[in-house]
Amino acid sequence: MKIGLIGCGRMGSALIGGIAKSGITTAQDIVIFDPNSDSVTKTTRDCGVNAAHNNLDVAARTQTILLAVKPQYISQVLEEIAPAITKDHLLISIAAGVTIKKMEQTCPSQTRIIRAMPNTPALISLGATGIAPGSHATRQDLELARELLQSVGIVTLTQESQLDAVTGLSGSGPAYVYTFIESLALQAEKEGLPLDEALKLATQTVIGAAHMVEQTDMTPRELVEQVTSPGGTTLAGLAALSEHGFEKSIAAGVHAAAERSREIAAES
Ligand SMILES: NC(=O)c1ccc[n+]([C@@H]2O[C@H](COP(=O)([O-])OP(=O)(O)OC[C@H]3O[C@@H](n4cnc5c(N)ncnc54)[C@H](OP(=O)(O)O)[C@@H]3O)[C@@H](O)[C@H]2O)c1
Repeated sequence: MKIGLIGCGRMGSALIGGIAKSGITTAQDIVIFDPNSDSVTKTTRDCGVNAAHNNLDVAARTQTILLAVKPQYISQVLEEIAPAITKDHLLISIAAGVTIKKMEQTCPSQTRIIRAMPNTPALISLGATGIAPGSHATRQDLELARELLQSVGIVTLTQESQLDAVTGLSGSGPAYVYTFIESLALQAEKEGLPLDEALKLATQTVIGAAHMVEQTDMTPRELVEQVTSPGGTTLAGLAALSEHGFEKSIAAGVHAAAERSREIAAES
């Protein structure tokens, strides 16, 4: 299987690195292009993949193409590669806010497109990605997209209308968690811990709690109950969090990010 990458920045290079290592195809069967020749040189050297002459060359030499340029360049790239797009091609775009309809309008009719919303932990193979099929994408296309993106984390199948919720949750979610870790550590410093030690403890607490959710059969609510005894410290902490609107703040954050994602898609 020949796989192409257009846009070899942070996300594109991480994705292609994951795919090259995954064994889905050989590195020799991967072709990449980016006008930034330093990015191309680094990725070809690190991953053993091949460089194309330009975007059209990527489309001519491969059938499955990952589009990882910034959203504002997607139309330009699609116009560039349109002459080489055939019914054998599958395009997988990770550009935030660029709708399938908009991409389909720029491509030859019947072009098979999948839209994906990954997040930055994909850079360390711990990504969480939602994928949605375009009007002409097949079940096999979705399976292939899932397999490719699973090389950098977990993948969930969605409808395009649900990608805004994915954006509000896992797309923007890492920033919520960074803020949470920072807030935990800053207050722990005020309670008497050195900040660097507090940051280490806060980070490990989030990692450990996430693994508990993942690796036990218990729901998050059951885990909360398990660690909360009457009159204890955790109960006092949870009560103060609720009193200050913790759950409501998180709900408002996810909602605001999902709404912003809907607005950006409508503007594009
Ligand atoms: N980072 C995230 O958390 C995240 C999450 C979800 C989705 N995404 C999406 O992922 C995409 C890439 O994001 P990123 O953070 O990896 O951006 P990035 O690091 O800026 O990478 C984009 C790359 O595309 C190159 N490029 C620009 N115009 C091009 C063209 N006409 N043909 C081929 N390559 C071109 C850029 O080169 P120059 O540097 O020379 O311009 C750059 O190397 C975006 O659409 C973004 O919405 C990102």
